[in-house]
Amino acid sequence: MAFLEARNVVKRFGGLVAVAGVSFDLEQGRIVGLIGPNGAGKTTLFHLIAGTFPCDQGTIRFCGRDITRTKPYHVCRAGIARTFQITRPFDKMTCYENVVGGLIGRNGFTGESHKGRREVEELLKFVGLWEFMNTEARHLNLIHKKLLEIARALATRPKLILLDEVLGGLNTGEILKALDLIRAIRDQFGVTILWIEHVMGALMQVAEKLLVLDGGRLLCQGQPQDVVNDSRVIEAYLGETDD
Ligand SMILES: Nc1ncnc2c1ncn2[C@@H]1O[C@H](COP(=O)(O)OP(=O)(O)OP(=O)(O)O)[C@@H](O)[C@H]1O
Ligand SMILES: [Mg+2]
Repeated sequence: MAFLEARNVVKRFGGLVAVAGVSFDLEQGRIVGLIGPNGAGKTTLFHLIAGTFPCDQGTIRFCGRDITRTKPYHVCRAGIARTFQITRPFDKMTCYENVVGGLIGRNGFTGESHKGRREVEELLKFVGLWEFMNTEARHLNLIHKKLLEIARALATRPKLILLDEVLGGLNTGEILKALDLIRAIRDQFGVTILWIEHVMGALMQVAEKLLVLDGGRLLCQGQPQDVVNDSRVIEAYLGETDD
């Protein structure tokens, strides 16, 4: 039984086929990169896994359970959390309150109990937002908003986290710190990571496997070094080459 299994997944937006029959297996405990040119269907695939959009065809199974038509909050309770390409904090809530939002999804668990409070504080410390605990999210800069999304996602105690371009817009120093954090999510929390990223140099340092989408199809998958040297992948990114 695969940890996460997608079979012939299709999503259409009117006449546009954003995800055109994608199948893959994800092993538990891995850090896997999902790459592909702009508009390849990466974020749409995340929406399908998370239940934000229903699949038009195909099936998605998680830990042996069919989650194809499962609502987002039930997918979350089943153990899949996500961050958003365009960050979506609750702007007028503090960082603490935002992370409590992740806790509440867990069978009535709240930030009111001593245990809940400690857990939120530890998560804010883990992502490096301890000093912003009482700051409203709208006052955070981009990197801090991205870190807040990660803390909120971890508060749901996921088995799998879907990271959508967490490094976009960050400088080199911020990227290095974020890479340590991503490794720690897997190593300290045991969370499997499926990670969309355009910052290839960074992704290559951490990802153990890459999946490549192009035009809504899975172009190839494999070891990062093999994938980036694959002529089909080079062509997808750079256009056809003259031989
Ligand atoms: N809600 C929507 N309605 C209509 N078309 C959409 C919608 N969301 C995405 N699309 C289209 O589906 C295709 C795939 O988009 P998607 O956002 O999944 O790409 P992506 O691989 O995440 O790209 P990027 O790297 O730029 O984030 C694109 O052509 C996009 O314009
Ligand atoms: Mg995207």
